[in-house]
Amino acid sequence: MLTPIHIDPHITLRPFREGDAAPMFEIIDRDREYLAEFLPWVDAIATLEDEEEFVETTMSGPTTGSDARASFVIEYQSEIAGTIGVRLTNSQSRIGAIGYWLAEPMQRKGIMTRSCEAVTAHGFDEMDLRRIEIYADPENPKSRAIPLRLRYSDDGVVLYTMPVSGKTQPMAAYSMTVENWRARNSA
Ligand SMILES: CC(C)(COP(=O)(O)OP(=O)(O)OC[C@H]1O[C@@H](n2cnc3c(N)ncnc32)[C@H](O)[C@@H]1OP(=O)(O)O)[C@@H](O)C(=O)NCCC(=O)NCCS
Repeated sequence: MLTPIHIDPHITLRPFREGDAAPMFEIIDRDREYLAEFLPWVDAIATLEDEEEFVETTMSGPTTGSDARASFVIEYQSEIAGTIGVRLTNSQSRIGAIGYWLAEPMQRKGIMTRSCEAVTAHGFDEMDLRRIEIYADPENPKSRAIPLRLRYSDDGVVLYTMPVSGKTQPMAAYSMTVENWRARNSA
């Protein structure tokens, strides 16, 4: 079972819960144009019912096994700020991928860099991952800056097949191995 991660007195990552759909939909609807620039799923969340279904699916998603995932709501000063998740993408090699978004007004406070650091630790410590990848649109410098701040390696631009849509497009790739993570944290 997923338990909350208290990053500091202001930022908490916690599992999704039923009541999240309405406030989450409000944010997505308000920030639709900003979010849709880089998130392919935004258009599919057209109504509150769509978000309710998403929250339901996320809440019942497996936390172990070959489809393991850990999805968190990010709270900043007890307000929903966005979401972040890590999912197993290759169970044989124990590779995972992190995805994230913040509400527009929650940017520029360092919330995502710290959340991504905590979820990277969660992936290695709790999910037994050996490597974590982050893919960002080459035209999304704010997203690209997050793995770089955390000292992920810059693997260049690769052709990447997007989850869900199945569309293949150039994406900037970043990765962290468990060995480099342990070395980084013991330095
Ligand atoms: C990508 C996204 C999460 C980046 O948000 P962000 O606010 O730039 O990221 P952070 O929360 O880590 O904040 C970093 C900023 O806060 C500043 N900051 C303040 N305190 C900080 C701290 N303690 N640690 C790190 N950064 C801090 C940094 O200087 C940086 O600001 P700058 O860009 O002006 O230099 C956000 O733009 C977003 O959700 N966009 C839409 C969806 C999206 O693109 N998702 C990613 C798809 S791959």
